[in-house]
Amino acid sequence: MLSGSSAIEVNDVAKAFRLPHHRRTTIKDHLLHPFERTTFERYVALDGVTFEVKAGEFFGIIGANGSGKSTLLKIIAGIYPPNRGSVRVEGLLSPFIELGVGFNPELSARDNVRINGTLLGLTGRELSRRFDDIIAFAELEHFVDQKLKNFSSGMQLRLAFSIAIQVDFQILVLDEVLAVGDQRFQEKCFATFERFREEEKTIVFVSHDLSAMGRFCDRMLLLERGNVRSYGDPAEVLAAYAVINAA
Ligand SMILES: Nc1ncnc2c1ncn2[C@@H]1O[C@H](COP(=O)(O)OP(=O)(O)OP(=O)(O)O)[C@@H](O)[C@H]1O
Ligand SMILES: [Mg+2]
Repeated sequence: MLSGSSAIEVNDVAKAFRLPHHRRTTIKDHLLHPFERTTFERYVALDGVTFEVKAGEFFGIIGANGSGKSTLLKIIAGIYPPNRGSVRVEGLLSPFIELGVGFNPELSARDNVRINGTLLGLTGRELSRRFDDIIAFAELEHFVDQKLKNFSSGMQLRLAFSIAIQVDFQILVLDEVLAVGDQRFQEKCFATFERFREEEKTIVFVSHDLSAMGRFCDRMLLLERGNVRSYGDPAEVLAAYAVINAA
């Protein structure tokens, strides 16, 4: 049941990046203009984004490549500061945003779980208690002492996802979790989503898998070039996306 209170409030958020441009393109240019400097263009990745995620809802964010979805999640998770606007988050947030961030490829899975779990706020005792669950959910029992650099991308994804969901979060933020997982792992993720829904956790989920989005989301947001194009009822938001894609 939705309690009606808000878990995340995003108010008029804007974010721009500096895009470098080298004027010199050929070796001849370089020889003719050796001191010419790189110029920067201000690239607006998000502009005036406002929406609310209610406590206990499964909230989906969709949009084309480069439309600003990951940037928005990073701002919500506090990884990037916005240039303008504000974000309010109510409750402990567990981010699963970019594969490999926070992992050390030279260390074993075992050590990476310890380090990441600690960073996510698990105490030593909680970690020892949950370590086996993390490895079991990821189905990596055989590989626990292998260096992470020898893991496939799917194996890394399973480990990272498994760690993210072992934290006692109220809000889980997921960017493209399913992209490199195999079918069986995807089904397992879906099953955990059902469980989270029963536990009234708040989930913010970015994916290009529109059928999964339609299946799970209570409400959705469509980003188009950093702007909110559609927000609310999943069927309406998916229809708005179909219109963009048909254009
Ligand atoms: N750290 C950064 N520095 C410079 N530009 C960035 C940075 N992060 C994102 N951008 C730019 O912001 C825009 C939005 O990127 P973002 O990663 O948010 O897109 P996305 O919607 O997640 O796309 P995808 O579906 O491909 O994951 C892109 O043009 C990207 O190049
Ligand atoms: Mg992205």
